[in-house]
Amino acid sequence: MSVLVAYATHSGATRSLAEVIVDELILAGTEAVLHDIAADPDPVGHDAAVIGSGIRMDALEKSFQDWAGRHAAALGARPVALFTCSGSAANPAKAERQKGTESFLARSPIRPVAVRNFPGWVLMDRIPLAERTLLRAMRTPIGDFRDLDAVAAWAREVRPLLR
Ligand SMILES: Cc1cc2nc3c(=O)[nH]c(=O)nc-3n(C[C@H](O)[C@H](O)[C@H](O)COP(=O)(O)O)c2cc1C
Repeated sequence: MSVLVAYATHSGATRSLAEVIVDELILAGTEAVLHDIAADPDPVGHDAAVIGSGIRMDALEKSFQDWAGRHAAALGARPVALFTCSGSAANPAKAERQKGTESFLARSPIRPVAVRNFPGWVLMDRIPLAERTLLRAMRTPIGDFRDLDAVAAWAREVRPLLR
């Protein structure tokens, strides 16, 4: 079985989670390949996919939504696990599914076998100046909130669901 792990990122946090997922799948004996959505990977060459997007302004990355739209038929016909990476996931009260995930799935033929929203990071030196001002105005907590053990555990959990 071959699994495509594809991600969309602005500041790198989602990529770092996708790397953990691909490593964990390989460790468990599954063939898995990592691709940035910017390179337009084709799910057709794979049996299943784990797809992930950073969250911006309560939405999945536009590049992610465009890619998923272009490959909707292939993604809809395969087992797919979906994860998001957000600042608010660090807050237990907001750690469940993102609003953006709900609206994305409502418009997509993808019926994920699993969905998870993971905490990412909000690191000012990785964010363009104009957006820093916005984040400060929104009083967004700053820091690295990633829990890579939780990401690895999720990868192990979803692996059998991708068959
Ligand atoms: C302009 C901007 C808007 C953001 N909007 C949200 C948001 O609406 N909800 C949220 O939980 N996090 C929000 N975040 C935090 C990101 O989701 C977080 O930094 C995440 O780790 C980004 O992933 P990436 O590094 O893969 O792009 C925002 C960050 C930026 C820079």
